Amino acid sequence: MEQQDRWTKPEPLWREEISLPKFEALNEDKATEVAIVGGGITGITTAYLLAKAGKKVTLLEADELMNGTTGHTTAKVTAQHGLIYNELIQHFGEEEASLYYQAQMDALQSMEEWVKKYEIDCNWEKEDAYLYATTQKGAHKLEKEFEAYQKLGIPGGTQDALPFDVETTKALSMKNQARFHPIKYLLALIKEFTKMGGEIFEHTKAVDLKENDRIEIETGKGHTVACEKVVSCSHFPFYDGKGFYFSRMYADRSYVLAIEPKKDIPDGMYLSIDDPKRSIRTADYEGTPVLLIGGESHKTGQGVDTSFHYRALEEFAAQTFGIKKKVFHWSAQDLITLDKVPYIGPITRNNDRVFIATGFRKWGMTNGTLAAKLIGHYILGEDSLFHKLFQPSRFKSDPSMKQFLSQNFDVAAHLVDGKLELVADRPNSLKKGEGMPVQWHGERAGAYRDEEGKLHVLDTTCTHMGCEVEWNSAEHTWDCPCHGSRFNYDGAVVEGPADKPLMKIAIEENHEVPPHMNESKQDEHGEQP
Ligand code: FES
Repeated sequence: MEQQDRWTKPEPLWREEISLPKFEALNEDKATEVAIVGGGITGITTAYLLAKAGKKVTLLEADELMNGTTGHTTAKVTAQHGLIYNELIQHFGEEEASLYYQAQMDALQSMEEWVKKYEIDCNWEKEDAYLYATTQKGAHKLEKEFEAYQKLGIPGGTQDALPFDVETTKALSMKNQARFHPIKYLLALIKEFTKMGGEIFEHTKAVDLKENDRIEIETGKGHTVACEKVVSCSHFPFYDGKGFYFSRMYADRSYVLAIEPKKDIPDGMYLSIDDPKRSIRTADYEGTPVLLIGGESHKTGQGVDTSFHYRALEEFAAQTFGIKKKVFHWSAQDLITLDKVPYIGPITRNNDRVFIATGFRKWGMTNGTLAAKLIGHYILGEDSLFHKLFQPSRFKSDPSMKQFLSQNFDVAAHLVDGKLELVADRPNSLKKGEGMPVQWHGERAGAYRDEEGKLHVLDTTCTHMGCEVEWNSAEHTWDCPCHGSRFNYDGAVVEGPADKPLMKIAIEENHEVPPHMNESKQDEHGEQP
C-alpha cells in the first residue's frame, strides 16, 4: 500500500505485506466433533490445541481470519494488565489474584514454547512492561499496586523516571514480558492446525445454535454444522444461551498510531495510568523500528468526533518522540466484564457442550491463549487450577452488582433517550465524506454523503436490541453504544453482536447535492486523520 493511502485509511500494521491464506465459505451442511466460532487468537489456538489432542475440529469465521480484535491489537504479551492486582486482591482475595497472574504467565510461556518449537519468525522479543503515573494520585496507586506485586510474588519494582520525555511521578515494572507480531505467529498455528486435518471456513457467520441431541449451529447462508461441542470465540458470544452476556459486558474502543520517531526508541512496553492514557511499544516495519502509540479509549458509540482521538495521539507522539514519518493508524474494540476478569468456560453452569471466551479487556494475547488452554481442558475432561476464577457463571456481588446496575441503566438510557434526542442537522448540510444523525421527515436517522455525493440514509435503530447508533467519523461506521455492534455507512454489519443490517431509508430521486457542498472534508482540512 502506498504511504499516502496507508495514512489516510485506517489499517493495522500487522496485516500489511503478509500473504494470508484464503479459505472457502461453507456451502453445505457439515458434521464435526468440535466447532469453533471465531478466527482470532482464541479460536485459532483452541483449534490447534484440540486438533493436537486428536479431535476433529472445524473453525468458522464470519469474515477473514485474524481481522477482528486480534488483527487490531498492540500485541503486548504481558500479565501487566494495567492496575489490576490490588483490585483483584480486594475483590477476589490474594489466592485468586495470584492465580490470575499465574494464568497469564502460563499463557505467555506456552506462546514462547510454540515460537521455539515451530521456529516461528514473529519478532518475539522479551521485554519488561511498565505502568507509569504522571500525577501524585497516580503515583500513590502505583505504590499500592507494587504492594500487591510483593504480596503475590510478582517480579518487578518501582522507579522515578522513564527513558523518554514524559513527566513521571512513578513507574512500576513487571519483568520478563514479551511483544511479537500476532499475525506471523498465528499463521504458524493455522499451518499446524490444517496439517493435522483441521478445517477452516471463512465468510461463514454462525447466527444461531440449537442444543438438541447434538449441537446444531446455523450459518447465515442457511447451512448447519452439527457437533458435540462448540466454542464461541466471537467477541460477543454469537449465542447467549441464557447467560445474559449482553448485560454483563460493555464494549470499549481505543486507537493506535504507528510512527517512525525522530528520537531514540526506548526499550520496554509502557502504559500510563492517569488520563489521558497512553500505551507505547516498539514494533518492526520493513526492517525499521516504529513506535505504536495507543490510547484514547472510550465506550463504543460514546466518543467525541472520533478523528479527534487520532489527533490527540499524534500530538502526544510529536511532543514525546518527534514524528519522522506517520506510518499507520487504526482502532480496536474489546469487551470488558463487570469484574474485569474474562468469562472463559461453560456458557451457563453445568452446560458441558457450549463454551465461551470473551471479555478480555484489551489484553487478548495472553487471555486468548489462556482461554484456548482452559477450554481445551474442559473439552478433554481435564482439571485446571484456573477454571474456577474465570468461569462465566461466577457472580461477585461487589463490585459486580453496582456495575451491573449502572451498565444496564446506561443501556436503558440509550434505548429510551436515543429516539427522543433532538437532532438539529438536516442531511442537506452534509459534505462529501461526512456522516451524522439527522432529522429525516421529523425522525432521527443516520445520513452519510459518499465521495460521489450520494446520500445514504439509514434507520439508526440498532438491529440487535434497539439502541440508537452513533456516527464514528474516523472509521465511517455507525457504532452502537450498548453492546458495540458496528455497521458501515450502507448499513451492513461490520461487527456483532447484531447480525442484521441497519434498515435503509428510501430517499427521493431528485435529492441533489447543492454545488457549494461539493468540497470534500479532506479539501477543507488538508489531511484526514
Ligand atoms: Fe446491542 Fe446495539 S443494542 S449492540
